[in-house]
Amino acid sequence: MRRAVVLVCAFFYWVAGELAQDVSHIETYIMHNRRQIGRRFRPHYHVAAPVGWLNDPAGFIHYAGKYHLFYQFHPYNSAWGPMHWGHVASDNLVDWEHYPVALVPQKPYETSGCFSGSAVAYGNYIILFYTGNTHMDNTTRQTQNMAVSTDGVVFQKYLYNPIIREPVDGTWQFRHPKVFLRGVAWYMVIGNPTRDNRGRILIYTSSDLYSWHSVGVLAESLGDMGHVWENPDFFELDGYHVLLFSVHGLQPEAYEFRNLYQTGYVVGKYNFEMNSFENFEISTATFNEIDRGHDFYSAHTMLTPDGRRLMIAWMGMWQNEFSESADGWAGMMTLPRELRLAADLKVLVRPARELLDLRQDIMEDATYTPGETFDAETKSFELLVLAKEIGQEANMTFHLGRGRKYMLLYDSKHQQMSVDRGGVNGVRRAFWRAAANGRPLYWRIFVDASSVEVFCGDGDMVFSSRIYPTKRISISIGGDTPLHVKQYKLRRSVGISRPPKKI
Ligand code: FRU
Repeated sequence: MRRAVVLVCAFFYWVAGELAQDVSHIETYIMHNRRQIGRRFRPHYHVAAPVGWLNDPAGFIHYAGKYHLFYQFHPYNSAWGPMHWGHVASDNLVDWEHYPVALVPQKPYETSGCFSGSAVAYGNYIILFYTGNTHMDNTTRQTQNMAVSTDGVVFQKYLYNPIIREPVDGTWQFRHPKVFLRGVAWYMVIGNPTRDNRGRILIYTSSDLYSWHSVGVLAESLGDMGHVWENPDFFELDGYHVLLFSVHGLQPEAYEFRNLYQTGYVVGKYNFEMNSFENFEISTATFNEIDRGHDFYSAHTMLTPDGRRLMIAWMGMWQNEFSESADGWAGMMTLPRELRLAADLKVLVRPARELLDLRQDIMEDATYTPGETFDAETKSFELLVLAKEIGQEANMTFHLGRGRKYMLLYDSKHQQMSVDRGGVNGVRRAFWRAAANGRPLYWRIFVDASSVEVFCGDGDMVFSSRIYPTKRISISIGGDTPLHVKQYKLRRSVGISRPPKKI
């Protein structure tokens, strides 16, 4: 009997050892290297990896009193490589601490990376769902896997991974599980292009999070909507269902789809029992880009304990320039944003209200007339820009050094808002009625060392872009519209504390 107990204990000890990921060597590497990275473009209040490369957010949840955000991470250099999952946590969505790396690609089903997915807080557990990617002999395989943590710090991969080995029709591109609860049933949506290269999203269901059953196709392209749909997210917003996803293969049309890939949404009413939408069409006419800037990809949402739908995304775009990669790191997240649905079923995007907590001193509070210039004096700041009377054009130009500029321009005749960061394909433009219903023109702008996020009106439109100033920014007012500018210095809130060993 004693022998049997010893054998059983030894077996469990072995299993636990097999499953526990040893991240200590990576943590030592990060600790050592984070002191050596270059700081000139480093953000003060946006999440960036401590060292190395960051892309998609991959799990954003509230667990045991903290927000947890996971992301695609390559610690060993500032270029994309075998994907790990980085991890940060926050009490307030503003101050973020780096946590130990959550997933390391070590298993046969993830030899070339633990790709994006999502996280679920369930009882005392955080459960991560992710895509294991393998690439051998010119063949790529993508499977869905899970990992569990009981303390929010250390994750163990499930012994019986993969939990979904392949889609029913044997297609190979199968990635980015987003899991959510509806009533007592769990659902998972996954990007899965068809064999004839049309974007498609599958939906699965489960009662226990381990065994998943296919419900069918949630949505697919009829042909004009790109060849890959990935990073899907599906959620309820103000009584409707929003399907948010990233698309490869859209052709630029006038001012739309100017980036290499797009992230956008369609809105409808979905019946979970029938797996069908009412009056629903996905086409380039109904798909709306959720951010109109140069650097925005792979948006991911979560529900806060007080019921707000927050979104965060990678402030980057494949194949764009990341000047900071010369400094030992690359990539940053956007700010967390709150989503609401407008009466015309457009998604409104506003900075999360917690971000007010970043404000420190007021540095400017004055009306500037066209031709005037002021110095930003700090790398990380917020501007509230208001114009009660709008002439032909409202214009603000950020001078970045060496003749480089980032310009915001509202053209009231054509009711168009544009940003221009110079270079080839530098303009992003969209229709926007700045002064609808007697409202003044309003821009809320966040600058953080090498990023700019411009929120127009009451969440009507956002432009997120990376910029690379080589001197302190100075700002000039152009056009023919005087602008009232209030500038706040924003405090440093990311990555100042050391990661916990254990909580
Ligand atoms: C989507 C994604 C990520 C992965 C990378 C692969 O952005 O599939 O999951 O890190 O791109 O190239």
